[in-house]
Amino acid sequence: MQTKMWRGDCAEDIKAAAECLQAGEVVAFPTETVYGLGANALDEEAAQKIYAAKGRPSDNPLIVHIAEQKQLEGLVSQVPPKARALMAAFWPGPLTLVMPRAEQVPDCITGGLPTVGIRMPDHPAALALLKACGLPLAAPSANTSGKPSPTHAEHVYHDLAGKIAGIIDGGPTAVGLESTVLDVTVEPPVILRPGGVSQEAIEQVIGPVQADTSLRRSEGVPKAPGMKYKHYAPEAAIIICQGTPAEIASQLQMILAQEKRPLGLLISEETRALLDKVPSGAIVRILGRRAQPETLAHDLFDALRWFDEQPVEVIYTEHFPDEQIGAALMNRLNKAAGAASL
Ligand code: TXA
Ligand code: MG
Repeated sequence: MQTKMWRGDCAEDIKAAAECLQAGEVVAFPTETVYGLGANALDEEAAQKIYAAKGRPSDNPLIVHIAEQKQLEGLVSQVPPKARALMAAFWPGPLTLVMPRAEQVPDCITGGLPTVGIRMPDHPAALALLKACGLPLAAPSANTSGKPSPTHAEHVYHDLAGKIAGIIDGGPTAVGLESTVLDVTVEPPVILRPGGVSQEAIEQVIGPVQADTSLRRSEGVPKAPGMKYKHYAPEAAIIICQGTPAEIASQLQMILAQEKRPLGLLISEETRALLDKVPSGAIVRILGRRAQPETLAHDLFDALRWFDEQPVEVIYTEHFPDEQIGAALMNRLNKAAGAASL
């Protein structure tokens, strides 16, 4: 299949992409978090094409994207009051709400669960596409299963060219990490996946919520089925150095003197400033500033993909502050690293 490239700011291109979706095809589109791989959420055959293109296990449910709250009718059987408050505060935006499903939502969207995850993306091309096709769109991140989520149209092309009808190019995505997934069918609500809306921000609107504790332990089955799979893994090993920037810098200085393998550093501007000797063979990528964690989140997936093109066997990185968006950042980095941290 030839994969078409469309422009997110061109009305004719959006119309062409919408027609593909109406015909049951699969189209990648930008959101404010990462690129999504969309298909008609009410058409089982179309949704199956998503799993096939990504190589994704089919017990892992898909998030349904909508452009207007009235589309919830037909997707959910009930909207809990806390969900209403959260929609008013954060939609459109990077918050997925897990609610009781309506009967007509196909099992292949929900992975057979009694719930469905729904969000309204905050991106003009995504909203224009949703309106033009008039359908709710099931859309996971538009990467090959196991790889970092795509934050540029080129990442999608790299993973999925030839396997999908087309890609809408909206440039780099703003947040760079996926949405927060919040289960509002339980009391208190549970964060199944940390993401673009922080726990602190959610709690300001609806009071205390719980983090899914199985996310932090190695045992236990996370309630968001997607959290149990290997994820975000670059080809090189990743090792996370712990401590203050000064402690991290002194560990790195020692590692740089001793490590025999071709190595990369994925570090903050602050940590780079504390390193005095970096051998010319080391491949360094500055991720952003610890003082501005959204810069770190914005580039993490791009950096992990970039390292796949570099001749490195091991990537040393640092434990970044894990408040606000930092919680989602460290969740993804820990997954990319497996258990390896110093
Ligand atoms: O930012 C995002 O959320 C992006 C963009 C494209 O919207 N989408 C995304 O989708 O990250 P995906 O499929 O890569 O991740 C969805 C996560 C998975 O961990 C899945 O298990 C969980 O949400 N999820 C979806 N529906 C669920 C449900 N009904 N119950 C529990 N977890 C659910
Ligand atoms: Mg994903």
